Amino acid sequence: MSLSDSPAWQQFTAAAKHANLDGEHLRLINAPGLRLDLSAQAHSPELAQAATALLTQQGFDAARAQLFDGGNANWTEQRPAWHTALRASQPPALVASAVLAERERVRQFVREADAAKRYSCVLHLGIGGSDWGPRLVTRALRYGAARREVRFASNVDSHSVADAMSRLDPHNTLVIVASKSFTTTEPLANAEVAMNWLRDAGVADPIKQVVAITANVEAALNLGISPDHIFQIWDWVGGRYSLWSAIGLPVALALGNDAFDQLLAGAAAMDDHFRHAPFAENAPLQLALAGVVNRSVLGYDSLVISPYDSRLYHIVPWAQQLEMESLGKVATADGSPAGVPTGPAVWGMSGTDCQHTFFQWLHQETTGAPVDFILCEQPDHDYARHHELLFANCLAQRAALLRGKSFDDALAETSQTEKDPAKARVLAQHKVHPGGRPSSLIVLPRLEAYTLGALLALYEHKVFTQGVIWGINPFDQWGVEFGKALAKNIIRELDAPASQAAPQDPSTRFWIDAISRRH
Ligand code: F6P
Repeated sequence: MSLSDSPAWQQFTAAAKHANLDGEHLRLINAPGLRLDLSAQAHSPELAQAATALLTQQGFDAARAQLFDGGNANWTEQRPAWHTALRASQPPALVASAVLAERERVRQFVREADAAKRYSCVLHLGIGGSDWGPRLVTRALRYGAARREVRFASNVDSHSVADAMSRLDPHNTLVIVASKSFTTTEPLANAEVAMNWLRDAGVADPIKQVVAITANVEAALNLGISPDHIFQIWDWVGGRYSLWSAIGLPVALALGNDAFDQLLAGAAAMDDHFRHAPFAENAPLQLALAGVVNRSVLGYDSLVISPYDSRLYHIVPWAQQLEMESLGKVATADGSPAGVPTGPAVWGMSGTDCQHTFFQWLHQETTGAPVDFILCEQPDHDYARHHELLFANCLAQRAALLRGKSFDDALAETSQTEKDPAKARVLAQHKVHPGGRPSSLIVLPRLEAYTLGALLALYEHKVFTQGVIWGINPFDQWGVEFGKALAKNIIRELDAPASQAAPQDPSTRFWIDAISRRH
């Protein structure tokens, strides 16, 4: 039976349609490292009850146990998705020695680099999950704390890597090539550019300044990287869940081993909460349910993420990959489609910048989108006034989206300045805000490694829970693989124009030929 035909789903949708979205009750969940305020999400006792029945029907308990126990959570690729093992203080026995040994190797590398005052700069070359996690964390936490300049280049576009290398000292730069597969076009192409840059600068043995982080050790060895400069991850680490592995090396280099340990500890604490907190007080689970209501019942196509803290700017692309690579699919375990709308498009920007770009659309366009607001109670600067302004703006946007403004209220407002009643009524129409637009507020006491680890794990488990509810596998990405395969065919043809050309649509053929002629 498809999800949409199932009794639990029908009860859930019926309850969600009648639930309150009036913000009349404070709905706060305390979780490690943060508080989640769901007061502006649909809620009712009936919905809570129907949600429990839905989770039971979808086998949530067993799926969550499988995730933590290293079962076949990534069932289309027949392997675990065991990122929780990477951050556990005591990882599960099966992988404990490998995880702890690699964790210690990373620590030791950082210790030695610090002791020898080596590598004033780090150039990190990865893409997707091998890039966004460390990029987000180093950018978020470097404020006043960075020991090294860490630059990131991901795109296969020499402008990007050239920009990242500009004004770095090649003799004192560590190049990190981070790629789980070590077959991805972008990091390998950028590694070549970086090695040439080292060579051109007169670095005697450039490969000695290169480190690889990968599950494909053989490929890294083939590139000439020495074994003591290769940090291992494993096939059971999903790319977009790999920050917690040696992929976090730039975080440790930039902020220190203790900071990286705290990041892991915050995520591990959230794991524990997700595993043991009752449904009603379980932050990732409740955030997931709110998202399912918004997407699959209320019909919102997208989700906005707006951190009211500019240090968290990169959480937007990080979450885009996490959410959209994980949930942008419809096939369920038996191959049939989920039958209900699944993962939303994710977009956003930090506040208050977002208020001056797209928030108008959120307030008054007919579609709208739910928003995740993220705030830190305490800033790390001394301008208390700035922080009050930031806080006030965030709360005001939430309130405006939720409360809206009725025609009568708008008319009362416009009538005060416009004495012509007809004109006052027209202007009032422009000032009507529908309201009733859902949002979540996530509040960190302060932006620290621990709280950030918890925040990222919150999102990971939210996405996992939604995958379980929708019956889809959040750990594969066949769409991305398809695109990669087609790109490889085209590159093969560009490399050897005389080779047999693959069939292409007329436009693709035209442009391949146009580029080939320029070679
Ligand atoms: O974007 C697709 C993807 O496969 C991601 O899942 C992954 O994080 C990224 O490419 C990079 O892959 P790799 O680490 O193997 O280079």
